Amino acid sequence: MFIVKLGGSVITDKSKKYFFKRQVMKRLSSELKKANKETLLVHGAGSFGHILAKEHMLNQGYKSNKQLQGFSLTHAMVQKLNSLVLESLHDRGIAAVSIPPHAILKLDDHKPVKMDYNIFREYLDRGFTPLTFGDVVLDGKLGFSICSGDLLLQMLAEHFKPEKVIFVIDEDGLYTSNPKMDKNAKFIEKSTVSELEALTTSSNAYDDVTKGMEGKIETIKHIVSLEIDTIMLNGNIDNRLYDTLIGKESKHTLIYGGKK
Ligand code: IPE
Repeated sequence: MFIVKLGGSVITDKSKKYFFKRQVMKRLSSELKKANKETLLVHGAGSFGHILAKEHMLNQGYKSNKQLQGFSLTHAMVQKLNSLVLESLHDRGIAAVSIPPHAILKLDDHKPVKMDYNIFREYLDRGFTPLTFGDVVLDGKLGFSICSGDLLLQMLAEHFKPEKVIFVIDEDGLYTSNPKMDKNAKFIEKSTVSELEALTTSSNAYDDVTKGMEGKIETIKHIVSLEIDTIMLNGNIDNRLYDTLIGKESKHTLIYGGKK
């Protein structure tokens, strides 16, 4: 089984509120269909979630009743993005079923304390493709907070021990520094977790409430420590996802599962 996260920066334009990249999603849906692998899908919130979440300070938890409307609106918008992703998958003939995080998991001070993994297993066993997404959720300590797609990926990887975890992002993979800001950044084809420690990352330009690349590297360290290979690849380039899923050589970063 593969666990794939479609990053918010690939399926939306992060600089424009509520901008869905329909054509990119259509192609990614076709690649998933063509590869025909058992897959558990996660997608990020992009400009349907981050801007609102920041406006209403949702990741800091409950401060005042004014945030309730913001929580509800943010949920509605990520759910709307989820419907668009679902529709695209259906159009390519993938029997995807949406599993909204807020209804099946609970965090406590941003850390997972409760999650219904069984629902994913049951849909997979019946031949469906479960689809979940970064969402606003209940949080025991904070009242509410945000569960990122990356955290979902980490939880699902820990539970299901997939063959590979794939992050579909808007870069070819990992670089020695941020390629959007440093022209000397070098591409990393293969890496181990100890090599990851040496990387310098800088946060990106967008209002990312869930830590961007820095947070992603922490997530990857966790996943590879479970001995699961993790791949980062460019979702904007034709067939990178497809080729990787079928095991064909293609440009991406592979981080070997294992502690060293
Ligand atoms: C964020 O999810 C969820 C909300 C802001 C509600 P992600 O952190 O997984 O989204 P992307 O991939 O960075 O856009």
